[in-house]
Amino acid sequence: MDRLAVLEATLRAHFPEEVSLAALSLDAAVPPLLPEEAPYAERAVPRRQQELAVGRYLARRLLFERGVPWAPLLRREDRTVVWPEGFVGSISHTKDICVAAVARADEVPCLGVDIEASTVSAAIQPKILRPEEQAELSHLPAPELARRATGVFSAKEAFYKAQYPTTETFLGFMDVRLTHEAQPQRVTVRVVRPGSPLLGLQLSGFLVEVDAWVASGFFGACQTVDVDR
Ligand SMILES: CC(C)(COP(=O)(O)OP(=O)(O)OC[C@H]1O[C@@H](n2cnc3c(N)ncnc32)[C@H](O)[C@@H]1OP(=O)(O)O)[C@@H](O)C(=O)NCCC(=O)NCCS
Repeated sequence: MDRLAVLEATLRAHFPEEVSLAALSLDAAVPPLLPEEAPYAERAVPRRQQELAVGRYLARRLLFERGVPWAPLLRREDRTVVWPEGFVGSISHTKDICVAAVARADEVPCLGVDIEASTVSAAIQPKILRPEEQAELSHLPAPELARRATGVFSAKEAFYKAQYPTTETFLGFMDVRLTHEAQPQRVTVRVVRPGSPLLGLQLSGFLVEVDAWVASGFFGACQTVDVDR
C-alpha cells in the first residue's frame, strides 16, 4: 500500500462505519468543478483550484455512492459547504492531498476531519496550546513537542469544523481544550472559555499520526457538559 492508501485506511478504521471517507493526491486527474461551482475557483491560484476540484470530486463521489445524485456542492458566505439535505460532511487539504468525509446527519450529526502535513513551530505554539496544554507537553524534546502541538492544532480544527454547521459560532484555539481519553488515540475537545455561549460543548474523536501526517476526526452528537462558569 502506498502512504496515501495507508492514511485513507487508517482514517476509515478510526471513524465509525457510518462515515464514508476518501483521500486523494492533489495531483490526481479529476473532473472539473461543476459549472455552478466554477466561480469559486475563478480568482484562485492553480493549487487552490485543484484543492477545490479534488475536494468537491471526492465528496460528490462519496455522496453518489450513498445514492445522492451527482450535483453541485455549493458554498456559503462563511465558506461552509451546502451538503445535501440529510447529510453532513467535511473536507481537508494539505499542500499535496485532500480528504473528504460524509455521513447521514441522522446517524452522525456532527462530522469534522482535518489533516496536517507540516508541524506547528515553537513561535506559534502559544497561540494554539492553552497554558495547561503547554504544561502537559513541556517536558518533551522540541521535535516531539512540535508534533504533539500539531496534533492539538489538528484536533481543534477538526472539532471546529464538526461543530460549526450546528452552532454557527466562531471559536478560537484558546476557547477549547484537548484531553486524551483512556483508549489510545481517542481524544475529546471541549469548550472551556468562561462566558462562551458554547461553554461545556464537547465532542469525542481521534488523533493519529500516519507517515509524516497528523490527522484527526470528530463525529457524533455534540454534548454540553457542566463546567465551572
Ligand atoms: C475552517 C478552518 C477550521 C480550516 O480551514 P483550512 O485552514 O483552510 O483547512 P482545511 O483544508 O483543513 O479545511 C478547509 C475546508 O473546511 C471547510 N470549511 C470552511 N469553513 C468551515 C467552517 N466554518 N465549518 C466547517 N467547515 C468549514 C471547507 O469545506 C474547506 O474546504 P473548501 O474551501 O475546499 O470547501 C479554518 O480556516 C478556520 O476557519 N478557523 C477558524 C477557527 C478555528 O480554527 N478555531 C480553532 C479552535 S476551535
